[in-house]
Amino acid sequence: MNKRIISPSLLSANFTRLTQEIKIVEDAGVDRLHLDIMDGHFVPNLTFGPFIIKDIRKITTSHLETHLMITKPHEYIDDYIDAGSDTLIFHFEASTDIDRDLKHIQGRGVKSGIAINPGSDYKKLLEYTDNLDYILIMSVFPGFGGQSFIKSTLDVMKFLKENTLDSDILIGVDGGVNLSTIDQVYDTGIDITIVGSGLYGADNIKKRYNELMLDDR
Ligand code: DX5
Ligand code: ZN
Repeated sequence: MNKRIISPSLLSANFTRLTQEIKIVEDAGVDRLHLDIMDGHFVPNLTFGPFIIKDIRKITTSHLETHLMITKPHEYIDDYIDAGSDTLIFHFEASTDIDRDLKHIQGRGVKSGIAINPGSDYKKLLEYTDNLDYILIMSVFPGFGGQSFIKSTLDVMKFLKENTLDSDILIGVDGGVNLSTIDQVYDTGIDITIVGSGLYGADNIKKRYNELMLDDR
């Protein structure tokens, strides 16, 4: 079994003390951070734009994965790459030309990712594997942190992992991952979990990170 990789979602961090919130998880062992971009259209919530990523880029060398929950992602790809994203993820449900958008991202020297909502036709993702570095399986409907894990998405994880084994595509899982769900998620074979409230909601974040990383519970 590969070592677990956890990418903390900064959505649940305290933005008035972001430098410390990032340092806490990095001191615990994190080298990848998840940035949630919401536009109030694709999802019923608003977060932040590229200028915050630009500032985050200045204070960390961690791999920044940017999760665009926005309509017309192609209009904003360059802005989020220029801001310093290492992986740029758009939604399967939002892109008007998936091949074009994946190639555009890779052409800029950044890892390309597609996020897919619960209930969407996940088997279709196998048509895009040539230009794809990362699949982000949503285990909640996007829009908010702290929602409950949707169990039926475990089948999506198993299917996509089994069918991409001969590639270098990483599979991440986003939403409702916490101490009570994380083991089932890793049992499907996926590579990365995104954890927001399940990590930043803890009194002792470092201790919680170590508990989440334990794979022999
Ligand atoms: C949901 C976001 C997630 C969210 C995860 O719309 O894409 O990244 O922050 O938060 P938790 O781990 O609290 O479900
Ligand atoms: Zn996310």
